[in-house]
Amino acid sequence: MPPADSMPSRLKVLHIASEGFPFVKTGGLADVVGALPAALAQAGHDIRVVLPLYGCVDRDGLERMAHALGVPLGSREEWGASWRRVDGGVTTYFLEHDVFFNRPWPYGPPGGSYSDNLERFVFLSRGALQLCHATAWFPDIIHVHDWHAAIAPVFLNTVERATPLGRAGSVLTIHNMDFQGNFPADQMPHTGLGWEHFTFLDMELNGRVSLLKGGIAHSTLLTTVSPTYAWEIQNEPLGRGLEGMVRERRDLLTGILNGIDYSIWNPETDVHLPVRYSADTLASRSACKETLQRRVGLDPKPGTPLVGMVTRLSWQKGIDVVLKALPRILELDMQMVILGAGDPDAEGEVHHLHTAWPGKAAGIVGYSEELAHQIYAGSDFFLMPSRFEPGGLGQLYALRYGSLPIVRATGGLVDTVTSYDEASGHGTGFSFNDLSPEALFDVVGWALWAYYDRPTHIEAMRRAAMSTRFTWETAANRYLDVYRRALRLRRG
Ligand code: ADP
Ligand code: GLC
Repeated sequence: MPPADSMPSRLKVLHIASEGFPFVKTGGLADVVGALPAALAQAGHDIRVVLPLYGCVDRDGLERMAHALGVPLGSREEWGASWRRVDGGVTTYFLEHDVFFNRPWPYGPPGGSYSDNLERFVFLSRGALQLCHATAWFPDIIHVHDWHAAIAPVFLNTVERATPLGRAGSVLTIHNMDFQGNFPADQMPHTGLGWEHFTFLDMELNGRVSLLKGGIAHSTLLTTVSPTYAWEIQNEPLGRGLEGMVRERRDLLTGILNGIDYSIWNPETDVHLPVRYSADTLASRSACKETLQRRVGLDPKPGTPLVGMVTRLSWQKGIDVVLKALPRILELDMQMVILGAGDPDAEGEVHHLHTAWPGKAAGIVGYSEELAHQIYAGSDFFLMPSRFEPGGLGQLYALRYGSLPIVRATGGLVDTVTSYDEASGHGTGFSFNDLSPEALFDVVGWALWAYYDRPTHIEAMRRAAMSTRFTWETAANRYLDVYRRALRLRRG
């Protein structure tokens, strides 16, 4: 171990990611990238973030940097530019390349992906490193998120090894093992790396180039977003073909739960709510429920339990099973609201919920931060029957807003929701195991039984849920331990 004085007390950390709130968000990754850097900066560290300058990013408040950015992409060089913005002690850079990033969607049209995604995200990863050279700012740690940035640690071990960037430790956070950035082998040359990296122990997976696999093989340390998922990805099926490599490197892997940005997700101050409330003024929640019922076209019945979902409409989230189970579930005395976007077939079905069950079920296809907040605040229960869930933020927001999560016992849902104990009345939600329409009906039925027959338990659970805390400060401290360890390993 190097002497203590070689460990800087103020770490310089560069995050590279494909999305970050409030600039661009398709899911929880953006929430993490929007909040973790700020928590690290708050702890006194020098934190910078690199994101793509997508067409949807609002350029107001961004400053275009003077120098152009040349980024090697295989045998050619692509030229872009960078923009900058400073908020709360965090500098965010946006890489501009109109052909790659000025498109209607970050990854591709609904249900699809752009065929040049390898080039786009190699540009992002290598461009972020080029930006460090251009600004002569050399981080101690490069923290990359998901497959989009996972090739950066490969560059640190190869083309950058002998440069000042080669001293940086790298940390890869796996937010979702199902998205691996796998591309046809003939795209390997765009990485600029030699074919010696196209091997089973490096970037090759079933005959394809896997950017995530490269990151798993090359990063100094690995993290994922819950302890349970850290264990699940070492095994089939959730390792999705990479379980062997993860198991091989398991001593380098840590599961760190995500936090909540309480400046945004707080029912006591939330600007999206008609009435604000706390665990001590739970009665005010009923106004949020009524406003929500009216807004989405449900009968405004205060006493009818309302189950909400805010979700990507994808296989991961079990939406297919929900849609199968709904006809039976909706025979119960309850209401349902689903806000979601994603899979076009599921979107079609969700869109028709109003017509199939007028006043009783509502489906809103699209993306709305405001309505999401209103659903967390106005629903009695929050359904998250995920097939797998690396971390999950939806259930954390639901807990904070007093909507009791009904969750499948997987990944981060296991680590954050305590299932109801009928004898003691303890718990913060309801969990179940089998992902089948029957099991879903049973667990929703169980929650409704408690709602009607054990109201004191439900109220105590709401209070318990609302006082559970998952802070970014705690998570940031865990990441700082990982960074220091990575630096020791890299420089020791
Ligand atoms: P994932 O990242 O796998 O989609 P998470 O639970 O970690 O799941 O995060 C989902 C995030 O995206 C939450 O902030 C949730 O409120 C938000 N979200 C998902 N779908 C929508 C939508 N249609 N409209 C608004 N917010 C949404
Ligand atoms: C991924 C996961 C989700 C997690 C989020 C942020 O989108 O699916 O479980 O909460 O990343 O870490």
